[in-house]
Amino acid sequence: MAVAEVVVVGSCMTDLVSLTPRLPKAGETIHGHKFFTGFGGKGANQCVQAARLGAKTSMICKVGKDSFGNDYIENFKKNGIPTEFVNQAEDAATGAASIVVNSEVKTLFNPAPALADLNQEFYTHSDIFCCNESEAEILTGIAVGNAEDAGRVGCILLERGCKTVIVTLGPEGCVMVSTKAPTPKHVPAQKVTPVDTTGAGDSFVGALAFYLAYYPQLPLEEMVKRSNCIASISVQTTGTQTSYPYRKSLPQNLF
Ligand SMILES: Nc1ncnc2c1ncn2[C@@H]1O[C@H](COP(=O)(O)OP(=O)(O)O)[C@@H](O)[C@H]1O
Ligand SMILES: *[C@@H]1O[C@H](CO)[C@@H](O)[C@H](O)[C@H]1NC(C)=O
Repeated sequence: MAVAEVVVVGSCMTDLVSLTPRLPKAGETIHGHKFFTGFGGKGANQCVQAARLGAKTSMICKVGKDSFGNDYIENFKKNGIPTEFVNQAEDAATGAASIVVNSEVKTLFNPAPALADLNQEFYTHSDIFCCNESEAEILTGIAVGNAEDAGRVGCILLERGCKTVIVTLGPEGCVMVSTKAPTPKHVPAQKVTPVDTTGAGDSFVGALAFYLAYYPQLPLEEMVKRSNCIASISVQTTGTQTSYPYRKSLPQNLF
């Protein structure tokens, strides 16, 4: 068996997507014009992005013993993700939306969905703590609207025991700060025309996990720049996993 360099423990969800002209009011039935299902769940999304970049991955999660579960296992296989630790439970699976990536020493933690009273140990045990603006606000109570706010929040999370914090900022890229480099550093993203930003954060985290596992000698700032680049490509087409680029379609200077 191949040794996995990126191991994801996290959620795996089937998305049921209805396209409608507007949102229904409570109790109202309206016509939609399209319905489709998609593969989602933050953990699985991240694993798929890492696998498509060429990482040897393994996914640890539970799905139900039903057609969605069977289809998801097929989806993992199509993406070259081993499914030996994808269990099928009789009862419905619920996403925990937490990710732990093991690349010898490094753990990357994505606190999603965020809890205001997150256990202290999550801060101290992760090498890299990566959250988005809203998660940062839930964790610290401080609204994050720009890179300066993100830097302040990052410093607070360092005080709580994080070693390195990355706060993603959508079109503004992200801010990183660490105990070793305590001045927050804004790493901007390319200017692109976004079509659908769903799953951008998971693309970013999956890409970062790939670089941590396969290019551990790169400075973190360079890994973050490249992850911005990959996530910014994912926002230029629709869908979540459908928008995640493959290594062969990316500029080779990313590798
Ligand atoms: N409009 C955008 N233009 C360019 N890059 C983007 C855009 N939106 C997201 N990104 C990229 O995706 C990353 C994560 O996006 P963000 O919206 O912060 O995460 P989430 O999906 O968790 O809300 C950003 O750090 C950036 O690299
Ligand atoms: C941040 O991630 C959460 C999932 O934890 C998501 O619900 C939220 O919309 C994201 N925030 C932004 C600003 O995109």
